[in-house]
Amino acid sequence: MPFQTTSKIWHNGNLIPWEQANIHVMSHVIHYGSSVFEGLRCYGQPQGSAVFRLPEHMQRLLDSAKIYRMELPFTLEELCAGVVDVIEANGVAPCYIRPIALRGYGEIGVSPKGSPIEVYIVNFPWGKYMAGHGGVDVCISSWNRLAPNTMPALAKAGANYMNSQLIRMEAEINGYSEGIALDVNGYLSEGSGENIFLVRDGVLYTTPFANSVLNGVTRRSVLTIARELGIPVVEQALPREMLYICDEAFFSGTAAEVTHLRSVDKILVGDGTMGPITTAIHKEFFAIVNGIKPDRFDWLTAVKVPVAEPVGV
Ligand SMILES: Cc1ncc(COP(=O)(O)O)c(C=O)c1O
Repeated sequence: MPFQTTSKIWHNGNLIPWEQANIHVMSHVIHYGSSVFEGLRCYGQPQGSAVFRLPEHMQRLLDSAKIYRMELPFTLEELCAGVVDVIEANGVAPCYIRPIALRGYGEIGVSPKGSPIEVYIVNFPWGKYMAGHGGVDVCISSWNRLAPNTMPALAKAGANYMNSQLIRMEAEINGYSEGIALDVNGYLSEGSGENIFLVRDGVLYTTPFANSVLNGVTRRSVLTIARELGIPVVEQALPREMLYICDEAFFSGTAAEVTHLRSVDKILVGDGTMGPITTAIHKEFFAIVNGIKPDRFDWLTAVKVPVAEPVGV
């Protein structure tokens, strides 16, 4: 998907021109995949614009870095302020925000000790991620998700996305919008970039951390909304065939937001339309992020963006 550039990028606490945010080919990250990153959305509301769950995302960045023994030289507050600064400097909202911490140019070799840590925060306009307004047609991937004790699934690390790429490419080549991976034991895990939910007999199910999933911020938000709506929620290991016999299923994620699944492996999910529980959660989610309902969970951080148009080329 091509993206529109902006004017400034936050780099180690300073705003630099987009064109100057470059790294050397011998940077550690290029060779060994040593990066951790985040993806957030800033939504437009009648009263202005606001970033969805900013501290939760930046805390996950710090958590991912901690797992990989990367000591980021910034506090949670400084990272959150960096996100607000870059959005306001570029005057671009609504937008997608991509913070990334990486091991840069220093020494060669697997040990990252001599490579400096660099932190960048980039924002740019970005619309819908998943094709298909009437729901998406997905498949179970022939690729498994990362096995426990190989690559930590709770870290949002760049290297994990080699696995995601295999899942996504296979799905697209075979005509599907997305692939869902099973874990090492054959239970449902998650999509290449989304958590998964399904509904059966009025109960909302999702896969727990033990099935090699990312601790999705949207997943947590869906669980909060569902509990508030009085929908019974169960986090448990699920066999793949639950997706064939469930009444409803949907993805959650910053990019995918709440996207219902029309079919899995060419088997219709329910009657293929967005079912009542997915509709209720979808409606509530968008009412909050779009400022139609009050921000009762304190999920939004306001940004001051005077121009609603992207700056730059
Ligand atoms: C593998 C994977 N799972 C789940 C998610 C959903 O997480 P979130 O809702 O925090 O965007 C993402 C997206 O970041 C992801 O890449």
